[in-house]
Amino acid sequence: MGPSSLWLLLLLSPRDTRITVTPVPQTWEEAFDYCKENHRGLLFMRGKVEQTEVETLLNVTGVTGRFWIGLRQSRLMGFWFWTTIDKVVHYHNWKDNRPPELPLSHHCGAIEAGGKWRDLNCKMKLPALCIEDMYPT
Ligand SMILES: *[C@@H]1O[C@H](CO)[C@@H](O)[C@H](O)[C@H]1NC(C)=O
Repeated sequence: MGPSSLWLLLLLSPRDTRITVTPVPQTWEEAFDYCKENHRGLLFMRGKVEQTEVETLLNVTGVTGRFWIGLRQSRLMGFWFWTTIDKVVHYHNWKDNRPPELPLSHHCGAIEAGGKWRDLNCKMKLPALCIEDMYPT
């Protein structure tokens, strides 16, 4: 399956969430606005269980490439946070197993096929993953 079939795929997961893919590549800021207007926001993963759900989706659909998720770095302090829930990132799944650090880091985060996270220039245009709670708790 190619990326276009992934947009149509709705994942029903144990946390009662749906993940959708944005229809056109956008900068991180544009994707942030799009996901907020049309869904709950950009995707976030608070732990291993949620990470595994997302990986499973990426793996079964066989998509390649990168997708924006709700990861943002403070340009002053250097910590990474989940924009959708306004929480500092604790559990992580960065490529190379460590968070990208200032001053060399880019300030926006994406997930790659296979499930690893990486920092990228926020102006890059990528499709994004949005999340929607079907039964918010
Ligand atoms: C998804 O694929 C990657 C790369 O092959 C693998 O490392 C990872 O364990 C897989 N994740 C799941 C949940 O199957």
